[in-house]
Amino acid sequence: MKTKSLTINPDGRPKQVWDAFILFVTVVAAVETTLRLALQIPLTGVLLALELISTAFFCADMVLNFITPVHVNGQLVTSRKGIAIQYLKGWFILDLLSIFPWAIFGPAWEGVRLLRLLRLAHIARFMRKLAKENVMNASVLRMIFLGFWVTLFAHFATCGWIALGAGNIGPEWTSQKELLYLRSFYWAVTTIATIGYGDVTPVTPMQTIFTISVEVIGAGLYGYVIAIFASLIANLDSAQKKFSEQMDEINTFMRFRKIPLDLQKQIRSYYDYLWESRRGYSEAHVLADLPDSLKLKVSIFTNKAMLEKVPIFEGAGDALVEELLMHLKPAIFTPGDYVFRTGDVGDSMYFISTGHVEVVSSDGKTVYATLSPGGYFGETALLMNQPRNACVRAVDYVDLYTLNRMTLGKILEKFPAFQKHLHEIAAERQAGKQK
Ligand code: CMP
Repeated sequence: MKTKSLTINPDGRPKQVWDAFILFVTVVAAVETTLRLALQIPLTGVLLALELISTAFFCADMVLNFITPVHVNGQLVTSRKGIAIQYLKGWFILDLLSIFPWAIFGPAWEGVRLLRLLRLAHIARFMRKLAKENVMNASVLRMIFLGFWVTLFAHFATCGWIALGAGNIGPEWTSQKELLYLRSFYWAVTTIATIGYGDVTPVTPMQTIFTISVEVIGAGLYGYVIAIFASLIANLDSAQKKFSEQMDEINTFMRFRKIPLDLQKQIRSYYDYLWESRRGYSEAHVLADLPDSLKLKVSIFTNKAMLEKVPIFEGAGDALVEELLMHLKPAIFTPGDYVFRTGDVGDSMYFISTGHVEVVSSDGKTVYATLSPGGYFGETALLMNQPRNACVRAVDYVDLYTLNRMTLGKILEKFPAFQKHLHEIAAERQAGKQK
C-alpha cells in the first residue's frame, strides 16, 4: 500500500505565518538568553517555562523542515528523501546546536546556550527572501534591516559589557538591574557610534579588550551605515530620479532647439501624464524581457478592467481574450490629437483603456459619438475594406491598445462568432453615421 506523504505548501499562507512567528520567537529568545546570562538571572519559574516552550517551537520547526518541500535552483523538491537531504545539508546542524539542551551537562555549560543565537542566521535568510518578494521599496527595507541589526548588536554589546563587570559604571547604576542595563546600553551606543564621551570606561584588561573590539566593529559599522544611508537616500525613489533626469534632458533639448513655448508646454504635460499614469515606465519596455506566457499574464491582469468594460468581449471565451491580449500594442494620444482622419487607409482597430475620444466629421464640427474606456473604434475600415468613414479625436489623454489588420484577420478566422458580431456592429455604426 502506498503511504500518502504529508507535505506542506512552502509558499502557502500558513507556512509564511509560521515562519514569521518562529523568527519572532528566535529574536525574543536571543534577546532574553543574552540578557539573562549577563544579569545572571537563574533559569527558573516563568523563564524556564518560556525557555521550554520556545525550544518546543524550534523542535516543531525542525520537524516541519523535514516535510516541507524546498525550492532548489528553481525546482521544487517534494520527495521525503530529497527534502531531508536538503535540510541535513543546510540548516540542520545549526538548528540542532541551537536547541540542544546543554544544561544536562551541568551548570558549567550554561554559557553554551549562546549557541541559540545561531538561529539568528534564519533572519538574514528571511530578509533576503523579503527583499526578493518586493514587499516594499527595496531601499526602505534595507534601512529597516540595518536598523534591526545595529540595535541587536548594541544589545549584545550591552550584555557583554555587563557580563564583564560594566567597567567604572558606579554603584548608583548597579543597584538595580534596569539601571545597569540602561547605563550599559548608553556605553554600547556611544562606543558603537564612535562618540565615546569617556564617562563609562573599561577598568579590567578583559573590559579593555572588549571595548577595543566593540570600537573597531563600531567604527566599521558606523562607516557602513553612513555609506548605506547616503546611497539609499539617493536611490530612495529610483523611478522619480530616472524620470527627472529624462525631464532635464528634454527641457535642455527644447531650450537648445528653441521649441515654441506652447509646444514645450504640451510636451511637459505629456510627460506629467506619463508620470501620473505609469510612473514614467513604458509597459512594452519594462516587459520586453519576459517570456510570452508571463507577458500574457501581466497583460491579462493590467487589462482586465478594460476588457470587462468592452461589451463585445462579454461572453467571449478566454481563448479569444488571450489571443487578443497577446497582440495588443499600447499607444497614447494627447488632448486634441487625431488618431486618424476620414479617408485614411486603416490598418488597425483600437480599444480605449483610459480617456475619451470623439468620432467626428471631416471638418471636426459634427460629433457622431463620444467613446469612453472599454469603447473601441476603427473596425469598419478593416472589416469592409474601405477608408476610414470618420475622424477620431482624443478628448483628453487617451491610452489605447491597437490591434493590427493582420492579427485581427487571423483572430476573426479562428473565432467566427466574434467575426459575425463585429460585422454587425460595424454595419450598425456605418448606418448610424449615414443617417
Ligand atoms: P472606421 O471607419 O475604421 O474609422 C472610423 C471609426 O469611427 C469607425 O471605423 C467606427 O469604429 C467609428 N464610428 C463611425 N461611426 C460611428 C458611430 N456612429 N458611433 C460610434 N462609432 C462610430
